Amino acid sequence: MTARASMTVAAPEAPRAPTRELRKAEPCTLIIFGAGDLLYRKLMPSLFHLMSDRLLPDEFAVVTVARSQMDDGSFRTQVRDALRTFGPTGGAGLDQEAWSRFASHLHYVQGELDAPATYDSLRQRLAETDAMLPGGSGHLFYLAIPPSLYEETINRLAESGIAPRVPDPKQRPWVRIIVEKPFGQSLASAVTLNACVRRAFAEHQVYRIDHYLGKETVQNLLVFRFANSIFEPVWNRQHVHHVQITAAESVGVEHRGKYYEEAGVVRDMFQNHLLQLLSLMAMEPPVTFSADAVRDEKVKALRAIRPITPAVMHDYSVRGQYGPGMIDGKPVPGYRQEPDVAADSATPTYCAIRFMIDNWRWQDVPFYLRSGKRMPRRATEIAIQFRKPPHVMFPLPEGQTIEPNTLAIRVQPKEGIALRFEVKVPGIEVKMASVDMDFGYAEAFGDLDHDAYETLLLDCMLGEATLFTRSDEVEAAWGVVDPIIDYWANKRPDHFPNYPAGSWGPTVADEFIAREGAKWREP
Ligand code: BG6
Repeated sequence: MTARASMTVAAPEAPRAPTRELRKAEPCTLIIFGAGDLLYRKLMPSLFHLMSDRLLPDEFAVVTVARSQMDDGSFRTQVRDALRTFGPTGGAGLDQEAWSRFASHLHYVQGELDAPATYDSLRQRLAETDAMLPGGSGHLFYLAIPPSLYEETINRLAESGIAPRVPDPKQRPWVRIIVEKPFGQSLASAVTLNACVRRAFAEHQVYRIDHYLGKETVQNLLVFRFANSIFEPVWNRQHVHHVQITAAESVGVEHRGKYYEEAGVVRDMFQNHLLQLLSLMAMEPPVTFSADAVRDEKVKALRAIRPITPAVMHDYSVRGQYGPGMIDGKPVPGYRQEPDVAADSATPTYCAIRFMIDNWRWQDVPFYLRSGKRMPRRATEIAIQFRKPPHVMFPLPEGQTIEPNTLAIRVQPKEGIALRFEVKVPGIEVKMASVDMDFGYAEAFGDLDHDAYETLLLDCMLGEATLFTRSDEVEAAWGVVDPIIDYWANKRPDHFPNYPAGSWGPTVADEFIAREGAKWREP
């Protein structure tokens, strides 16, 4: 008999790690290409929040380069409106004093990204902003534009001389570039894009963003695994039965139909976010907490993933697409009814994949990764299910087995970690129940109040590359998913849609995991 109870761990002592206050950015200029959703919803609110937290210096400038006809004044108005909607206080009003201070740092250059004249205007504007900053201030370029424009923009930037290649990481002023996901559409296109980036920049200048790595709970994976001694001894095939990594979303594709039709769930979530989580879970302990030491180990883990060949694809992966259904008690349309989606679309919005890692630590331990849109709730979780005790001496009712221990790492929401184990239910009889020892970030440290983009932007300004993906890592991840994408792209599904919005995915996914004696969790 199992029941659920929970215990909460005591609030921690004051943090011992270096605090964010110590990590103020150096004077620099951030040049953002593109003024779309990413800029208004994520980058500007993050910068505003960083400035309110005094993590940006007073000597700081943002120059946005985009097509729309605007001057500094009208651009600032747009940003102000965006902050009212997406800023830290949501609609609760913007602090006027903080806004005026922030607004004075914002500049706008209008131009087409394929026109040399745009880069002349940018050069001129940078000369003006540089004159306001201390000598030797860095330039950080951010490609917040559609990926189809990356190569052209990088080439133009290089030709213009505005963003020179700087071979020595210690050289000042520094020049860095941030490239948003998706980094390529396939292994071949990622290799081409990496070659283009490398012609223009040294690898240490390049920051490839995967915003999952900026999430507090994802960064905590390294601390949890390597700052404790009790988990590492059981983190292997002797003790782990399987691992489940779930990224469930209740949202549909909304206004992103055009992008999503090309991408699908494997490119959108697996190649980057989910494989990042897998590599952090599976990697060997790095020797130092430096960008290259950590990334070397992550790449090794990715390279140890067993290739999935067409002959065994059905044993290793299943896919799905949502049909109409209910979310939070409200009817929602199916994927094929979303704007910009073909009425007979074959694009998967759900996928579950079993990855096997061929090395000493993980041989024969399945890593089940799944992600889907329009699932019942938003929940990202990593769960390690340990092996059952080899022999149970307690009498159990007919047909009942003992529950395995599980360690569940809640990436979001309700960030925290829960360890499930068996206890004796008080009473004369020996009865067992499963309980959770539960650590919640909010109870221990208060609400997590900063967005992943804040951490990532600040890290770029500080030249800290651990949370960014290196070229070999991106290529290794594409190497893992390419055969899966290609296989399914050539098999037209006649069964789509195969799960209603608001469900935990297609029934084939349940059968798929049951074959291995496991069961999906409902995080
Ligand atoms: C993005 C994907 O990279 O990540 C989206 O393109 C997805 O489709 C999003 O919704 C999920 O991010 P988060 O931080 O909400 O889990």
